[in-house]
Amino acid sequence: MAKIVLITGASSGIGEETVKRLMTAGYTVYAGARRLDRMKSLADAGARLLALDVTDDGSMTAAVKTVVQEAGRIDVLINNAGYGSYGALEDVPPEEARRQFDVNIFGLARLTQLVLPAMRAQRSGRIVNISSIGGKFGEAFGCWYHATKFAVEGLSDSLRMELYPFGIDVVVIQPGATHSEWSQIAHDSLIRYSGEGPYREAASAHAKMMEAGHKGSIPAPPSVVARTIVQAVQSRNPKTRYTTGGLAKTMLFIRRILSDRAFDAMFRVIERQMSKS
Ligand SMILES: NC(=O)c1ccc[n+]([C@@H]2O[C@H](COP(=O)([O-])OP(=O)(O)OC[C@H]3O[C@@H](n4cnc5c(N)ncnc54)[C@H](OP(=O)(O)O)[C@@H]3O)[C@@H](O)[C@H]2O)c1
Repeated sequence: MAKIVLITGASSGIGEETVKRLMTAGYTVYAGARRLDRMKSLADAGARLLALDVTDDGSMTAAVKTVVQEAGRIDVLINNAGYGSYGALEDVPPEEARRQFDVNIFGLARLTQLVLPAMRAQRSGRIVNISSIGGKFGEAFGCWYHATKFAVEGLSDSLRMELYPFGIDVVVIQPGATHSEWSQIAHDSLIRYSGEGPYREAASAHAKMMEAGHKGSIPAPPSVVARTIVQAVQSRNPKTRYTTGGLAKTMLFIRRILSDRAFDAMFRVIERQMSKS
């Protein structure tokens, strides 16, 4: 019998590619996002579409109910929906900071809460949380985004221990730079909130670095991250963390060996160099 997967953020980028690969591997995939029109080709290929907004409790409850009623079980939840809210802490309105947390962490946690009764009843299940290499280090203008991804890391470690007795595993994916809609959304928010005012110059340099970092050969195609996610889903003994995609392993290695201040200085040098290119 085909295993049942529920994945969020399936209308674009990493999520869309993951749906395709999971279907090819024989899974029954419930693909959720707000933009149903963007998932038509996935539906044509056999995915079951769910209108899903991870900031809306009713929408999440209805989505999980549909999967359980139709399929009778949920084997894998992939919490992938997320976006990058950038801008100086001083400039970002509190309501935007809350929205960032609502999408990237509270949505992930609530959806997990909703699938757990089915997984506990089965005494099996796997929760795959899409974090980022930015869950292990910070960067100027990324206070809120990185705070959410650090939260995904901490939540996932705690949850893994909590769910061990029920046979449910929790796996974290840490992508590096990846081609998707993510970088434009992050870039636009940085300019919207800090493009004027005291942070103007530094924000403009950072925006240029973000643009350069998501161009050319640095970012991985989303299929690279999707392949890693499918590996994490299929493995009999998954690792607790998978680092994947553009410069991901290199960045986390550098973060591990440098002191906090040396890492800050390295980031400033990268920003200076890349904002000129
Ligand atoms: N791209 C990178 O460089 C990179 C690096 C590290 C980590 N990541 C992480 O990877 C994940 C996927 O991002 P991506 O790169 O594939 O970006 P993307 O192309 O922008 O895709 C983001 C997905 O999240 C969905 N989403 C956003 N807000 C939502 C909401 N309120 N409710 C439900 N779905 C929502 C979007 O669908 P709708 O708008 O249709 O709802 C879209 O399908 C994110 O968690 C991101 O933080 C990305």
